[in-house]
Amino acid sequence: MPCPGPTGGSVATERTSDTVDTLESMCGIVGFVGSGSSGTQALDVVLDGLRRLEYRGYDSAGVALQTAQGLVLEKRSGKLGCLESALADDPPPPATTGIGHTRWATHGGPTDANAHPHLAGEGRVAVIHNGIIENFAELKAELVAEGVSFASQTDTEVAAHLLARAFTGTGDLGEAMRVVARRLEGAFTLLGVHADVPDTIVGARRNSPLVVGLGDGENFLGSDVAAFIGHTRQALELGQDQVVVITPHGVEVTDFAGVPVEGRRYVVDWDAAAAEKGGFPSFMAKEINEQPHAVADTLLGRTDPAGRLLLDEVRMDESVLRAVDKIVIIACGTAAYAGMVARYAIEHWCRIPCEVELAHEFRYRDPVVDGRTLVVAISQSGETMDTIMAVRHARELGARVVAICNTHGSTIPRESDAALYTHAGPEIAVASTKAFLAQITACYLLGLYLAQLRGTKAQAEIREILTQLQAMPDKIQKVLDGLGQVRQMARWMADSRSVLFLGRHVGYPVAMEGALKLKELAYIHAEGFAAGELKHGPIALIEPGQPVFVVVPSPKGRDPLHSKVVSNIQEINARGARTIVIAEEGDTDVVPYASDVIHVPAAPTLLAPLVTVVPLQVFACELAAAKGLDVDQPRNLAKSVTVE
Ligand code: G6P
Repeated sequence: MPCPGPTGGSVATERTSDTVDTLESMCGIVGFVGSGSSGTQALDVVLDGLRRLEYRGYDSAGVALQTAQGLVLEKRSGKLGCLESALADDPPPPATTGIGHTRWATHGGPTDANAHPHLAGEGRVAVIHNGIIENFAELKAELVAEGVSFASQTDTEVAAHLLARAFTGTGDLGEAMRVVARRLEGAFTLLGVHADVPDTIVGARRNSPLVVGLGDGENFLGSDVAAFIGHTRQALELGQDQVVVITPHGVEVTDFAGVPVEGRRYVVDWDAAAAEKGGFPSFMAKEINEQPHAVADTLLGRTDPAGRLLLDEVRMDESVLRAVDKIVIIACGTAAYAGMVARYAIEHWCRIPCEVELAHEFRYRDPVVDGRTLVVAISQSGETMDTIMAVRHARELGARVVAICNTHGSTIPRESDAALYTHAGPEIAVASTKAFLAQITACYLLGLYLAQLRGTKAQAEIREILTQLQAMPDKIQKVLDGLGQVRQMARWMADSRSVLFLGRHVGYPVAMEGALKLKELAYIHAEGFAAGELKHGPIALIEPGQPVFVVVPSPKGRDPLHSKVVSNIQEINARGARTIVIAEEGDTDVVPYASDVIHVPAAPTLLAPLVTVVPLQVFACELAAAKGLDVDQPRNLAKSVTVE
């Protein structure tokens, strides 16, 4: 994709419009301070970090370096490659301290001027930001009244000017950041450097993530550990409302009042290789391929020698869990579909009413939740703002919250009463795949654990289901090994304008996830329907040649819904649809009515989504690739949506 033409320069330019149309939101942040002894250049480390964080946002990028000639800034709209080309054309002087940013804007077009870092204090201060400063208008008015002029339309620039002003007043960069942080409302991770304070980066966080990477004679800051995983696996988790100052040999953390606090140290359990494409054409292709491992690793170490399920992480009083009379699953996007799958299993195994709700809907509808409600918050990133707000709301109402999350140290597990981690490894592609399977798996574990605790399933039955679950990674692998037909189909169907997906029971959320993947990746109109609902409306959409994927339950005898879905297939087939059926191996009933049959290994009904969704993921990925689209970074999307 070509880089947009320059809309500014390497230095932030003055803008005349006073409307703030670019509120900063997701974004990836990286900072590096080195001693120089190893010869490591800050620019290399920062760009390397930005490459790994690009999934967080990719509509503009920039760096600021502390050099012998003062701060040097380069920023460009477009993908990171545009910034890299600009830097290659005009290499900056050497530097051992630098910060970098990759951006995803919520409103307005990304421009060079709105890209981060933002300068202040006559170019002696540079700041990058992730989040939204909600009171920026009032702060900006205050600064403008003092004669400060703004070079961008962002809220971030307010923080840069405030930091410059506070440093003039305090002469201490950490204290200056605390002064700024206390004035800001909303969500922010901020990093700042000052030309007069060499070898130092200051950071602050509220409601947005920031992690410290601990090196030897060098330290790092990142939105997540991917930013520095190529250099160190030693990390320090920052808490809410904290300020950190890093130098090559030191890390100091305080709260916003200046009281020293201890961050929690941990070792990252994956390495740089896990965040590389490893020979696959895209991260998504790689992550789809990693799904057998994601499921197996999520299941690992969860039972005692007697086969009883152990969920050590769910440190919640057993009497509380026994008293639960309702479960509410909250999540967004793909994670919400994982919750919908889980609901069937949880209600069946535990006999507890279970609702699934989009986190942003839950938060604002006065839900009936109390001390006997167990809220399950599912999130790959742990940073989705809608889900964070819903977790907070649920806890205010007295509910206990269990987070199902893939990212250690992230906000949602930290703010929940308990956390059950999925061990899917880093998910880089924006569209979620392996995290989805791992989330479903973790929900199954939670459901079985509750069933064990409450005695709603006999121990032998729980053991049997666990054995069936252990067999799923091999079945997923089998699906992956036999998808040549799906790949071919995706190439033939690259010109489709609309694709429908039907499913029933657990196949219904699978159909919706299949449709979501196609929308996200291939920009094709796609809808997932409950197959039983077809006759109540959607069947009007069927015309000759309309592609329809149908997720079919296990054959007759084992699943009573099988014959009903076969009838649905006949109905759409009779109206000329191109029916692509995902059915169990050996299911011949569907063959006469299907244009194509994709066979998947037999699996118990409740566990079947772990195999039936895989062809749909591969279909969307291949079709998008066939259209020449960027599979890992679809337009307008971001991996973790850290704004409401
Ligand atoms: C974004 C992503 C989706 C993801 C959703 C929830 O919309 O594009 O792929 O499913 O956020 O993310 P979470 O990190 O909370 O699972």
